[in-house]
Amino acid sequence: DDLPAAYSFGATDNPPRGDYASARADFTCEQDWAAYTPEMHERYRRLYADRIAKLPGLACDEFMDGLTHMDSAEAIPRFEQVNVSLRRATGWEIAAVPGIIPETAFFSLLAQRRFPVTTWLREEHEFNYIVEPDVFHDFFGHVPLLYNPVFADYMQAYGEGGLKAQALGGLEYLARLYWYTVEFGLINTPSGLRIYGAGILSSGSEPQHSLFSPKPNRVGFDLLRVMASKYRIDDFQDTYYVIDSYKQLFDATAPDFTPYYTQLRGMPTYAANQVLASDRLFKAATK
Ligand code: PHE
Ligand code: FE
Repeated sequence: DDLPAAYSFGATDNPPRGDYASARADFTCEQDWAAYTPEMHERYRRLYADRIAKLPGLACDEFMDGLTHMDSAEAIPRFEQVNVSLRRATGWEIAAVPGIIPETAFFSLLAQRRFPVTTWLREEHEFNYIVEPDVFHDFFGHVPLLYNPVFADYMQAYGEGGLKAQALGGLEYLARLYWYTVEFGLINTPSGLRIYGAGILSSGSEPQHSLFSPKPNRVGFDLLRVMASKYRIDDFQDTYYVIDSYKQLFDATAPDFTPYYTQLRGMPTYAANQVLASDRLFKAATK
């Protein structure tokens, strides 16, 4: 079950949702904004309103700052319109895709500073929980942080690292890094722990859970420890990893991973809820 994060969401649903017939060779497609119905725009508007109301004081400042440039609260955004300010900020752009895409295509797009965003929107019965990423998760969860220069560079490096890991047998490890940072990461700030992971930010209930529930552990980020740790795709996380800054994340992942993959192959794999003596614990599970 340790597939790259872009896949894990869809692990239970085969084939993935979405119209792949009209995709290009690199798996990007047209957004076809005119095809969205008024009902879809209204559902998106309610999703945005529901989630944003839950995030003040919980989401990191960089996420909230990014959102202010996106003007996308009222209707499903036109990607090309958001791309104007995003390109200006960090040189990133959104690339429309039909849904989950193969890992090589995913890594290649990130390496080109193009973030794949699914075009379809979830159904009403999926308002609070969805297994596969849709336009709301991909756009609302991931795009705001791409306005932050350091995080933006991390994401590009991750894409390059993914292409490299394919030849080194390191994908399983790299997928865990993505999961515990890009999707479910927390950051330590002077005002306390805050959320930067897209999987938490786009969820209706995981923001509260990740910061305040007595159940999960919050452990200081340690690269090899994270890459050796399993994760849950079917429930809230048992452990959240806390970075001190995006610079810390970028610097920790800058070295050549080749020797890390060798080292990891000789290490035990940790359970998702395991606590190690060496962990820097922010908050231990108490239930
Ligand atoms: N520096 C890593 C390597 O050489 C690539 C990487 C960068 C991986 C950033 C993840 C995040 O493989
Ligand atoms: Fe995601």
